[in-house]
Amino acid sequence: MRIFFVVFVSWVWTSVVSAKTILILVATGELGVAISHLLCEKDYDIVVAVRDKDKADKLIGNLKSRYPNKAISYMHMDYSKPAAIDLSALNGIALDGVVVIPPRPAFSTTVGIPTKEEWDAVFALTYSSPLEVVRRLEPYMNKEGSVVIMSGITSEQYIPTYQNSNVIRLAWTGAIKNLMHQFSQKSIRVNAISPGTILTEFNKSKIQKRAESKGICFEEELKRSISNVPLKQYGQPMDVAKVAYFLLSDLASHVNGVNLPIDGGESLSY
Ligand SMILES: NC(=O)c1ccc[n+]([C@@H]2O[C@H](COP(=O)([O-])OP(=O)(O)OC[C@H]3O[C@@H](n4cnc5c(N)ncnc54)[C@H](OP(=O)(O)O)[C@@H]3O)[C@@H](O)[C@H]2O)c1
Repeated sequence: MRIFFVVFVSWVWTSVVSAKTILILVATGELGVAISHLLCEKDYDIVVAVRDKDKADKLIGNLKSRYPNKAISYMHMDYSKPAAIDLSALNGIALDGVVVIPPRPAFSTTVGIPTKEEWDAVFALTYSSPLEVVRRLEPYMNKEGSVVIMSGITSEQYIPTYQNSNVIRLAWTGAIKNLMHQFSQKSIRVNAISPGTILTEFNKSKIQKRAESKGICFEEELKRSISNVPLKQYGQPMDVAKVAYFLLSDLASHVNGVNLPIDGGESLSY
């Protein structure tokens, strides 16, 4: 009887105390889906912020079937309508962490330096709107929480065809310097992660197109592409999720203000 009581109390204690909640801002992309799965597997509750309700329902359905005991909630998020961003779905939820995934910066449509109009549009969608959400999240966050921002390897490395990305990713690594001070009252850590090429459908189709233009097969083009990666492979979405998990967790309790490349060493090999 006594043993039963001790086990029962420790079960109640664990369920009340250990369920930490992470908000994933834009969870339906391939990286967001991998992060959502890993966090549920690692015993976090999550809130998924998504612009398309049908996609959100599909993601939540998949997660619930694999992790039936997890609390998974939905919040609407469309960065292209900053005036309509509404965080009221978070009322009553205390966040222990946030993963900020900005939309992908579009490829530049101009030859040479992108125009002011192009910059205004790219900046609003991929930087200032997501940053506005982060700014307004502070009241919902618990002390000693963690914010992880998805940047990209162009924060470290110049890629000629990624003119917009070269700037936006650096803007984010600049923003973490400000944010870690602004969140310091609550001892909230702010870090960025910078994936190189990850084998998502987006990148597979780029490799496929290059292969077709050279008249070779996908595998051959992939082999050529990874020759500069010291690990001789591109990362998988789960490689990115594992680093996000690390930075959200107490394993990274004194890691603050860093930008962590996830590129198999590629950016240092030129
Ligand atoms: N994959 C890589 O190799 C890699 C490398 C470095 C950095 N990154 C960056 O990591 C981020 C995610 O990459 P990913 O590969 O997961 O992208 P993805 O699979 O192409 O997904 C993009 C996500 O952005 C969402 N989105 C687009 N416009 C939006 C808007 N106006 N408001 C709200 N959500 C919007 C999409 O929502 P819907 O589902 O509704 O379309 C989708 O969930 C991007 O910024 C990407 O550039 C990726």
